[in-house]
Amino acid sequence: MKKNILIAGSTGSIGEEFTRFYSDDPDVDKIITISRKIDDTTQKKIQSIEIDYNKEQSFKNLERISELESIDTIIIATGILHTAQIKPEKSIDSINFETFKSVFQVNVFGPLLLVKKLMPLIKRSQGVKIVFLTARVGSISDNELGGWYSYRSSKSALNMMISNLSIELQRVNKNHLVIGIHPGTVKSNLSEPFLRNVKHNIFSPRESVDLMAKVISKISHKDSGKCFDFLGKVINP
Ligand SMILES: NC(=O)c1ccc[n+]([C@@H]2O[C@H](COP(=O)([O-])OP(=O)(O)OC[C@H]3O[C@@H](n4cnc5c(N)ncnc54)[C@H](OP(=O)(O)O)[C@@H]3O)[C@@H](O)[C@H]2O)c1
Repeated sequence: MKKNILIAGSTGSIGEEFTRFYSDDPDVDKIITISRKIDDTTQKKIQSIEIDYNKEQSFKNLERISELESIDTIIIATGILHTAQIKPEKSIDSINFETFKSVFQVNVFGPLLLVKKLMPLIKRSQGVKIVFLTARVGSISDNELGGWYSYRSSKSALNMMISNLSIELQRVNKNHLVIGIHPGTVKSNLSEPFLRNVKHNIFSPRESVDLMAKVISKISHKDSGKCFDFLGKVINP
């Protein structure tokens, strides 16, 4: 059976690469991409939908896929660490309400609202895999460096939401799976200002997506609610 896949954040480095990866997969029939700006691709497989997490009205655009029979995989590759107005906080002195609100809006509330709006589609599908791009820095037990208050805590909150959603969705259908995945350090708009300080391996988006796609293809019932790294190793909360 051919698959339908939805990718949110398809204009981002990782989301764009996931879109390319599944476009090349002959077992994938249709790809719904979600982005702030409509993607004017000519690829027949792709249907682009415009959503900005900061504009609740824009979620109405999902009505355009109300006819879609089912979905197999949902990959949510949206997120912010910095913007023109936001810099990740190095210390408590730089904490401010607006930054926290904006980071949580995009990293936690937006993805969850998206899943809420997709629930009718999820409910009429069998065994949906929902994959959220999370980050190792959201792990409380793994925190060695501190800093990045809003980003770190948004990813910790996202990880809790992954656990919650997994419990709820398994009551709906025991074959639904929800996981978080850490892509590694990947060259992208999000990571670019911080790459010069990185001592470990830096992946290209393609290298990271190739690894994550293997993890996604292998996850099963027992994995739901957990967060994994790009090699499929569990990241402790
Ligand atoms: N790169 C890394 O090293 C790394 C490491 C750990 C975790 N991650 C996680 O991986 C995910 C993807 O990151 P990336 O590296 O691919 O970053 P990226 O290239 O900056 O992509 C981020 C995506 O999020 C979208 N986005 C931002 N604000 C949005 C909003 N208000 N509404 C809807 N979409 C919005 C962006 O859309 P626009 O194109 O319109 O801005 C873009 O598609 C994120 O969750 C990130 O936290 C990345």
